[in-house]
Amino acid sequence: MSTSTLLSCQWLSRDSPFRTSVLPPLSPAVVLSPSSLPGDAIYPRDENGKFIYHETNLCATWEAMEACKDAGLAKSIGVSNFNRRQLEMILNKPGLKHKPVSNQVECHPYFTQPKLLEFCRQHDIVIVGYSPLGTSRDETWVNVSSPPLLEDPVLNAIGKKYSKTAAQVALRFNIQRGVVVIPKSFNPQRIRENFQIFDFSLTEKEMKEIEALNKNVRYVELLMWRDHPEYPFNDEY
Ligand SMILES: NC(=O)c1ccc[n+]([C@@H]2O[C@H](COP(=O)([O-])OP(=O)(O)OC[C@H]3O[C@@H](n4cnc5c(N)ncnc54)[C@H](OP(=O)(O)O)[C@@H]3O)[C@@H](O)[C@H]2O)c1
Repeated sequence: MSTSTLLSCQWLSRDSPFRTSVLPPLSPAVVLSPSSLPGDAIYPRDENGKFIYHETNLCATWEAMEACKDAGLAKSIGVSNFNRRQLEMILNKPGLKHKPVSNQVECHPYFTQPKLLEFCRQHDIVIVGYSPLGTSRDETWVNVSSPPLLEDPVLNAIGKKYSKTAAQVALRFNIQRGVVVIPKSFNPQRIRENFQIFDFSLTEKEMKEIEALNKNVRYVELLMWRDHPEYPFNDEY
C-alpha cells in the first residue's frame, strides 16, 4: 500500500451503512469510521438536527469489504478510527478472510498513540496517521484547546539543526517509527516540502524527545458522534 493512493481518498455514495472511502480500482479501500450513518447524505440528521445512526454491525461491514477485495474492486482493505476492541472484533471474527491492512487514526507528536501502535504492530496492521501536522485548526471540528503543533519549540529547534521545518520534523518522526503520514496542503510549495523528509534522519535521542511531547489529547474528537454505540474514543485506545 502506498501513501499516495491513500492521499487521494474521496467520498462516494454508499450502499453499505458504513462510511467507506473508495479509491480507484485496485487501490486500498477503508471503512472510514466505526460509527455508521445511513443513506446518501454525508451527515444525515432528523428534523431536530440530531444525527441519525444506522444499526451497527462491524463484522457484517467487514465481510462486505472482503467481498469487494475478492471481486477485485480493491487491492487492500483497511479501517479508520477503530480502537483496539473494534480491531479485535474483526481479527477474531469467525471465518475472517482478510485482515485490515491499515488503521487510519490521528497520529502526531502531540498524540503519539503508543499503545494502539504497538497493538497494530503485533498484528501487522499499518497505522496511517491523519492530521500529522496538527490539523488546519478549524474550530468547527477541531479541538483547539490543544496548542498548535507546528509552533512547538522542540520540533522547531530540531528542525533548525537539519535546516528543516517543524512540519518536516513532525512527518519524519512518524515515518521513522513506521507510521504512514497523510499531510494535507493546498499550497504547492508546502506539498513539495512535505515530501522532502527522506534526506535526513532523527537520532534516537531526538525521537525520544519528540515522543515525550505526547499530550494524549486529540485534535479530532468527533464529538458530534459521541452518543453512537460504536463511538471509538471512549476506550483508552
Ligand atoms: N479518517 C478520519 O477520520 C480523518 C480525520 C481527519 C483528517 N483526515 C485526513 O487526514 C489528512 C490530513 O489531515 P488534516 O487536514 O486534518 O491535517 P494536517 O495535514 O495535519 O494539517 C493540514 C493543515 O496544515 C497546513 N500545512 C500543510 N503542510 C504544511 C507545512 N509544510 N507547513 C505548515 N503548514 C502546513 C495546511 O495548510 P495549507 O493548505 O495552507 O498548506 C492545513 O492548514 C486529510 O486528507 C484528511 O482527510 C482523516
